[in-house]
Amino acid sequence: MTRFYDHLIAAALVAIAALVLLAQSASAQGTDCSATKACPDVTNCCSQYGYCGKSSAYCGAGCQNGPCTGGTTPAPPAGGSGWSSFLTKAVFEGYFPNRVPFYTYEAFQTAAKSYPTFGTSGTLEIQKRELAAFLGNVKQESGGLQYVEEINKSNVYCDTSIPSFAQYPCAPGKKYYGRGALQLSWNYNYGACGAALKKDLLANPDQVAQDSATAYQTALWFWMTRGPHDAILKNSFSGTIRAINGGLECNQPAGSVGNNQMKNRVTYYKSLCQTLGVSPGTDLEC
Ligand SMILES: *[C@@H]1O[C@H](CO)[C@@H](O)[C@H](O)[C@H]1NC(C)=O
Repeated sequence: MTRFYDHLIAAALVAIAALVLLAQSASAQGTDCSATKACPDVTNCCSQYGYCGKSSAYCGAGCQNGPCTGGTTPAPPAGGSGWSSFLTKAVFEGYFPNRVPFYTYEAFQTAAKSYPTFGTSGTLEIQKRELAAFLGNVKQESGGLQYVEEINKSNVYCDTSIPSFAQYPCAPGKKYYGRGALQLSWNYNYGACGAALKKDLLANPDQVAQDSATAYQTALWFWMTRGPHDAILKNSFSGTIRAINGGLECNQPAGSVGNNQMKNRVTYYKSLCQTLGVSPGTDLEC
């Protein structure tokens, strides 16, 4: 009997000790914070393991709560339209109330498959700024996605005066006026963009105005390869304007056409930043 009770007590003690250990390890495993429980000091980040702190180990990848700097973004779906999680169809429709049916949200998503780092690079803040900057410039260039082609079609936009332009000779009778979401213009842009997209846009520039995804793809080609993407990764919205139409719009006298266009772009950009809940940064006008 005694021996039996001794064993029972010993077993109970072992069980209690095990429970205490379990309880200790459970409490050590992240009672600081969680996705739904902020850190007591709100300037701290909640790390992926549930601890509060300020360094990149807490605020970087996997950060669950607080002023996270990155890593809270869900992994982009295949095809590079991870930005669809914040630039939703509803946001897009609200931002372009006068959009013509040609320019669909879905065609924009399709076009982005060709540029998987567009809007998915850097922190979530930079990703949102990139969408706001791209669509802000699109709003200016296309009149809020109303224009598929430039209104004034009298210019040919053919320039072969330097070798890098002359490698894209103009086809007889074709004009390279603005087409698509960023109004791709000039033979040398149609030529280089067509080479990238594997479409002969020099021979048939109208393809840009006939296919919605191509109309966005040409805009994304310019954005990703001609400076705006790099500018926005450096938090420079002014750099996107400089790359797109700097010669006519930057450093122009107040009240001039160019100066007004530049200011429009900044206004459009800031408005979408506000909708997306991100600050526009400070490098805006040029
Ligand atoms: C169209 O462009 C041409 C060439 O730049 C210009 O001469 C003409 O005035 C423009 N037309 C309109 C209506 O703006």
